[in-house]
Amino acid sequence: VEIPSASGMRLRRGDHLPSITAEADTAITRRTAQRAERVETPGLAPRFGSGSPLWAEALGANVLDVDGNRYIDLTAGFGVAAVGHRHPVVVEALRRQSGVLIHGLGDAQGHELRVQLAEALCAVSPIEDSRVAFAVSGADAVELSVKTAMLSTGRSRILAFAPSYHGMSLGALSLSSRRHFRRDFAEHIHQQVTRLPFGCPTSQLEESLSGARFAAAVVEPIVGREGVLVPPAGWLLKLAQLCRRHGALLIADEIFTGFGRTGHWFAVQGEDVEPDLLCCGKALGGGIPIAAVLGRRSVMAGWDAPGEARHTATFVAQPLACAAALATLGVLHSKNLVARAANLGRGFATQLLDWPKRVPEVRDVRGRGALWGIEWTTSAEAQAFVARARRRGLLLLAGGESGRVVQLVPPLVLTDRQLAFCLETLTAVAVK
Ligand SMILES: Cc1ncc(COP(=O)(O)O)c(C=O)c1O
Repeated sequence: VEIPSASGMRLRRGDHLPSITAEADTAITRRTAQRAERVETPGLAPRFGSGSPLWAEALGANVLDVDGNRYIDLTAGFGVAAVGHRHPVVVEALRRQSGVLIHGLGDAQGHELRVQLAEALCAVSPIEDSRVAFAVSGADAVELSVKTAMLSTGRSRILAFAPSYHGMSLGALSLSSRRHFRRDFAEHIHQQVTRLPFGCPTSQLEESLSGARFAAAVVEPIVGREGVLVPPAGWLLKLAQLCRRHGALLIADEIFTGFGRTGHWFAVQGEDVEPDLLCCGKALGGGIPIAAVLGRRSVMAGWDAPGEARHTATFVAQPLACAAALATLGVLHSKNLVARAANLGRGFATQLLDWPKRVPEVRDVRGRGALWGIEWTTSAEAQAFVARARRRGLLLLAGGESGRVVQLVPPLVLTDRQLAFCLETLTAVAVK
């Protein structure tokens, strides 16, 4: 396969340490940036050439840019590459499946793989007697879960939290908290949303849930993109209890935290919480788009009605994506990657937790398993840290409303040698 690379280099393995030999942002990147300007939509395309590399290839925990620099991807492609980029088992499943059946229309043209995948998801679901409904993206899964709650309860008001991120489609956007994303579309988004601070006093939860008839509360068990926030001990359980008491369903958005990321199959399991509905996506497809909602049988029964399916999409449960997801779940099981995430978490904790004492510009460090956030006092400091790490071969992203929280989201296949390198390098570029 030809890749657009100045160096002609290829990745043979995914367990390498970084190798930075050229300036990112060279001629090939600049040319691509100019071409993008002519054909892509400004403000929506990646900012080619602004210092972040132009990806040519990725394998395991490694990314190769067009200039021949090799990185360790501490974003896991934003939570997608839990089993690593281009895992050979996933690639082989895609190769096999693409020789047999690529497409079947979502709700009309059935195939056996979707049943297999639903069985595999039920087997790891934290919800007893689960049923699965498939979706094409995280936002689609969130909307499906909210529609399910409305159908099941006959109510429409939703309790959401700030900060939170649930996706960008109009329905999901009504739940996502960031004003920058919502402001220009306010007229068109679901108005029936009450928003409370994430981790607020439980008296506030009680007051809201008892004061209005909510269909559901939608919550990220650990807030991901909006700043890696871990709720106070017992908060999620209290929210679950109050929802039950007041007839609202609990929707756990585990699109970021699912499939081992926090050291459990799902983060709710670390809090002894059984939600009524759970949204998952991202890591599920091993790089291929697919998402799903898992829900209690009695709740999902609300969809059972004559006539055409009331929620579907052309590519829902596409055979190719189901094959990739089955392979991904297989790798998570066979390589014990959920336990590996817990292990990585111990490594991160040992090295990072004292940073607020050692680095004056670091306000807080928090996380679980293989999901950590380093909160800097300003976004400029966060960005400077990301840039310093990139020059040493580590790819990171900063998130949160003001861009101050640098996220550590490694592939769960990160090796011990890679982990040691990452910890040493991050410390070297943070502690001056
Ligand atoms: C918690 C959470 N929910 C929903 C979404 C939206 O998923 P997608 O981008 O696949 O629509 C994301 C994406 O980052 C997420 O982190």
